[in-house]
Amino acid sequence: MRYLTAGETHGPQLTAIIEGMPSNVSIDFEAVNQQLARRQKGHGRGRRMLIEQDTANIVGGVRHGQTTGAPIALEVINKDFKSWTAIMSVEPIEDGEAKRRVHRPRPGHADLTGGIKYNQKDLRNILERSSARETTMRVAVGAIARQLLAEFGIKLACQVIRIGDVVAGREAMPIDQLIEITEESPVRVTDKEAEAAMISAIDAAKSAGDTLGGIVEVIVEGVPAGLGSHVQWDRKLDGRIAQAVVSIQAFKGVEFGLGFEMAQRPGSKVHDPILYTEERGYHRASNNAGGFEGGMTNGEPIIVRGVMKPISTLYKPLPSVDIDTKEPFTAQVERSDTCAVPAAAVIMENVIAWEVAQAFMEKFGGDSLEEIRSNYEQYLNHVEGY
Ligand SMILES: Cc1cc2nc3c(=O)[nH]c(=O)nc-3n(C[C@H](O)[C@H](O)[C@H](O)COP(=O)(O)O)c2cc1C
Repeated sequence: MRYLTAGETHGPQLTAIIEGMPSNVSIDFEAVNQQLARRQKGHGRGRRMLIEQDTANIVGGVRHGQTTGAPIALEVINKDFKSWTAIMSVEPIEDGEAKRRVHRPRPGHADLTGGIKYNQKDLRNILERSSARETTMRVAVGAIARQLLAEFGIKLACQVIRIGDVVAGREAMPIDQLIEITEESPVRVTDKEAEAAMISAIDAAKSAGDTLGGIVEVIVEGVPAGLGSHVQWDRKLDGRIAQAVVSIQAFKGVEFGLGFEMAQRPGSKVHDPILYTEERGYHRASNNAGGFEGGMTNGEPIIVRGVMKPISTLYKPLPSVDIDTKEPFTAQVERSDTCAVPAAAVIMENVIAWEVAQAFMEKFGGDSLEEIRSNYEQYLNHVEGY
C-alpha cells in the first residue's frame, strides 16, 4: 500500500490518494471525520482551528460503504480558502507578486532553505506546503488504514507525556480506558494535576509570545508477532515507524519502549525474558523493547514516543534576514499555535496506523478482505503450533 498527499495550507483543498487497500473493507465515514476532529483539538491551538471543521469527502475507491480495491481518493476542503482566493489563485493574477508576499524567513521553518532550493522569492510558495496543515491528510489516510486494522482487533491510542517542563504521571490501564480518559483531556493526559500544570504552562508561554513542545506516546495493541523483517534494512518496521514519526512537522526524535533510558541500564535490566504458557503461547515478562526485536513485532504492544520541538513561529520573533535587502529583521509572523503537542499525538497515532497497516498487508497480502483473513488465520494457527 502507498499514499501521496497534495494541497496547500490556504489552497482550495487538501487531497490524498491511497493505493493498495483491499476490497470489501467497510468504511465508517464518521470514524474518518472523528479522527480529523481529534487532530483539531487541544489547548494551545491558534485561531485557524476555529475556522476549519474538517470533514473528508471520499471521491474514489469506495462504493456503497465498502472499498472496491480501486485507489481511494480523499479530499478535505479548506474553509479558510475563501479569504485567500486571490493570493492562492492557480491562475496568474495582476498584483499576485506583491500580495502577502513573504520575504522574511522564520527561523525553525522550511522558509529560507526551501526558497533557496526551489528558487522562490516569495517564501509563501514554501510555507504553504511545509505547513502542518498537510497532516490533515495523513490523519485521514491513517483513519482509513485503521479500519482495516480494526477488522483484526488491532487498536491504537495516544497520550501526551510532557509539555515544556511538565511531565504527566502515567498508570498502567486497559487501552479502552486510556482512550476514554485522554479523549476528555484538553492536553491528552490521564494525570489531572499535570493537566492543570500543562494548561498553565501553555497560557504562560502564549502571554510571553513564546511556544512549547513536548513528548507524545502511541500504543498499538493486538499486533501479531512477525510484522516487518530482520532480513533487509528497509523492511524493519521499527525503522519505518521512526521515519514516519520524524517526518511529522516539528518531530525531532523517536524512541521505542524504554528508549533512551536503555543507555543507562545494564542488559539484565533491559531485555524482556521469554515465557511460554499453553494459554498465551510465547510472551514476555516485560515490554522494555516496545514490541520490537530485529525490526519485527514480537507480539507485545508497540510503544513509541516522539519528541516535538516548540512551534517555530513566535509572536516575539527571533532575528532573521530579509531576503530582498539582506538586512537583519525580526521574522514575519504568520497566525500560529502556541502548543500543538496534543494534536501531534493524534497525528502520530494515525501515521503509525498507516505503517502498521502497510506491514500487515505485506505479511498477509491479498486483494480482498476475505483473502487476507484466510492468510491471517492460517498464520495464527502456525504461530500457535510453533
Ligand atoms: C499539529 C501541528 C501544528 C503545527 N502548527 C504550527 C504553527 O501554527 N506554526 C508554526 O510555525 N509551526 C507549526 N507546526 C510546526 C511546523 O509545521 C514545522 O516546524 C515546520 O514545517 C518545519 O519543519 P520541521 O520542524 O519538521 O523541521 C506545527 C506542527 C504540527 C505537528
